[in-house]
Amino acid sequence: MKEPAQTRRERFFVTCAPGLESVLHAEMKALELSKIERQVGGVYFEGGLRDAWRANLWLRTAVRVLMRLARFEATTSDEFYEGVKRIEWARFLRPSGSLAVDAHSSESELDHTLFLAQRAKDAIVDVLRTSGGVRPAVDKEEPDLGVYVHVFRNRVTVLADTSGDSLHKRGWRKYQGRAPLSETLAAAVVLLSEWDQRAPLVDPFCGSATLLVEAGLLARNVAPGLFRSSFGFERWLEHDAAGWSKAREAARKQERATPKLMLRGRDWDPASIAGALENLRSAGLEAHVELQVGAGTDFEFKRGWNAWVVSNLPYGERVADQPAAHKLQRTLGERLRAQCGGYHVGLLGLRGETERNLALPGTRALPLLNGGLECELVVGELPRP
Ligand SMILES: C[S@@+](CC[C@H](N)C(=O)[O-])C[C@H]1O[C@@H](n2cnc3c(N)ncnc32)[C@H](O)[C@@H]1O
Repeated sequence: MKEPAQTRRERFFVTCAPGLESVLHAEMKALELSKIERQVGGVYFEGGLRDAWRANLWLRTAVRVLMRLARFEATTSDEFYEGVKRIEWARFLRPSGSLAVDAHSSESELDHTLFLAQRAKDAIVDVLRTSGGVRPAVDKEEPDLGVYVHVFRNRVTVLADTSGDSLHKRGWRKYQGRAPLSETLAAAVVLLSEWDQRAPLVDPFCGSATLLVEAGLLARNVAPGLFRSSFGFERWLEHDAAGWSKAREAARKQERATPKLMLRGRDWDPASIAGALENLRSAGLEAHVELQVGAGTDFEFKRGWNAWVVSNLPYGERVADQPAAHKLQRTLGERLRAQCGGYHVGLLGLRGETERNLALPGTRALPLLNGGLECELVVGELPRP
């Protein structure tokens, strides 16, 4: 008898933004996933589909959870086609369903990725095509099954996307703003700043409040995936809808009451503050916030708060804005040094200049990428006076 889909052990690869592998690894350890193994671009674990549900619901820095379906060697198109054909596709997709295939290749004989995607699609369609001629169609936007093909040194890995849309699309965002931080990077910034989840958290340049929302969800132990309307695995043939509904309910019950949680945000743009409030409301955090319109450097840091100042600082992307951005960082540094002994910081800005401009004793800079931009996160505890 075949093992039921929900208990079968599989190997999953959880992807993340480059540089966040160690944060993701720590999250996966805390989630008690088995056989976790760090790689470049993500972390492997072993488990059943229920573990993939948990990973999708709870991992704050994950981008996608991919299930490994096969690994084989291939140097010719026919070997590749046969390898893809051997996978048990009927587990996932009905002949009338839809699919999308994405392929990557490096240092391999088979290096034409469009051809690989096409050939993989042909193999899957040839397995599932019925005698009556019904066959899966390609749908790049909302496929019932997303398939990833990776070829490295002639070794092919075929994976199925359990997440569907990228996990940074949490579902709580109503207001976009001009330069929102990705939700997954915001969660990583909060985790790397080692916020104790009790002290007030202040973002003096809060924009759409991505950092405040992600911090609030962390403190209240809310699974970030609970806001999403769907995941890829929900469209798979073997999906257990009743079990999934129970798993969501169980996750919901883990929310913590945090009567003392205080999130403070400030931005000089009134539209951003209105949007921030909309986002915080949508995430159920409005009872815990205080928002102000005004210059971030004029924020009144109260002595004794021992707060965490966590922010994605204005960059000055145009050359003309850069002196202003530098000046802002220097002024913020002065204020923090003068008023914030005993506070912690997690301040994200451009690499090579932010740590120097802020000049905060007791801190260090961690290299990070923000949408391809080389950044650094200045973290640490400011000495008490
Ligand atoms: C890089 S964005 C922050 C984006 C935010 N992390 C988000 O996810 O939406 C910087 C924000 O700082 C604001 N800003 C720029 N200079 C400021 C200043 N001197 N005082 C207060 N806010 C400022 C901008 O309006 C913008 O919303």
